[in-house]
Amino acid sequence: MDEKIIIPGTEAAPEKRKKILSCIQPSGIPTLGNYLGALKNWKLLSDEFDSAFAVADLHAITVRQDPKMLRKQIMEVFALLLAIGLDPEKNIVFIQSHVPAHSQLAWILNCYTQFGEMSRMTQFKDKSQSHADNVNVGLFSYPVLMAADILLYQADLVPVGADQKQHLEIARDIANRFNGIYGKTFTVPDPYIGKQGARVMSLQDPTKKMSKSDPNPKSFVSVFDSPETIMKKIKSAVTDSEGGVYYGEGKDGVNNLMGIYSCCTGLDYDAIAKEFEGRGYGDFKTAVAEAVIEELRPVRERYDLLMKDQAYLLETAAKGAETAQRIANRTLEKTMKKCGFVLPR
Ligand code: TYM
Repeated sequence: MDEKIIIPGTEAAPEKRKKILSCIQPSGIPTLGNYLGALKNWKLLSDEFDSAFAVADLHAITVRQDPKMLRKQIMEVFALLLAIGLDPEKNIVFIQSHVPAHSQLAWILNCYTQFGEMSRMTQFKDKSQSHADNVNVGLFSYPVLMAADILLYQADLVPVGADQKQHLEIARDIANRFNGIYGKTFTVPDPYIGKQGARVMSLQDPTKKMSKSDPNPKSFVSVFDSPETIMKKIKSAVTDSEGGVYYGEGKDGVNNLMGIYSCCTGLDYDAIAKEFEGRGYGDFKTAVAEAVIEELRPVRERYDLLMKDQAYLLETAAKGAETAQRIANRTLEKTMKKCGFVLPR
């Protein structure tokens, strides 16, 4: 997103780099699902694209949060973004609430979003069941804030796990609708959903998504779990009584572990089945756990160092917000002008 000035005749104008944006909520300790479904791809794509990544703290309060815990988790997740290898000099890494344009554009886009289309969001239906005592308006219009996050940065691509696909579709619909009324204002974003790891399942109920809000801690591996805990959790993962390591129908637990192993080793399912032919689930689970431990080890090590330097984290977040604001405000102003607002001088 840096704007390089090309002086004609001195350098060939390069093809315009595509932009990506994605965010993660600080609503608990991120899981292996967050890592394999999203964060790992963010790092892989960040060299190739102009990238912006944020801690989506405004989204987190759609569910009641303890303020002390929220403050802690925002800094933990911000440190994690740097620990996965995102370079804050090359990527915009920031905290959503530091850039007021997110809330401002969300309000405007609320007025271009229909009640009916929000009511169809499956995540809203799920969350209003699991938080029946607090079905607030923010929870309902959550996907509009997410659309604002994306559209402010004119993102071409949004790397997410499969559970966010419906939200991406609504962001596209909102962008197309606004562009249709006022002329091209927003880039219409495409989701980027990896082939592997797009839906990492619970270790205890492999028909359910692995989630940081699952009350059973044995159901997920947290990115900050110790090697011993990771080994224990994966060893106790639910499989089946049949005993064969191959990808197949009715083998949700094994399929899930194969997906995790594949993400960590780069091996495809045939190669994994071959590696474990004639060997039991015990050997397989140990290998999966070891691969996960090695995958997360450098992240954990960098994270531990970063968390010791809170001043650096705050300073980096401030720099990220400054750059993010410049880009976001440009889109916000353009949008407001199109709607007919009088901008302050
Ligand atoms: P969140 O915080 O729930 O998750 C962050 C990312 O992790 C992915 N993910 C998974 N991938 C595979 N398997 C799983 N079990 C799994 N669990 C989570 C999610 O798909 C996501 O990519 N609404 C978003 C945050 C957000 C956002 C945005 C994303 C806010 N604004 C703008 C993209 C663009 C969310 O709640 O993600």
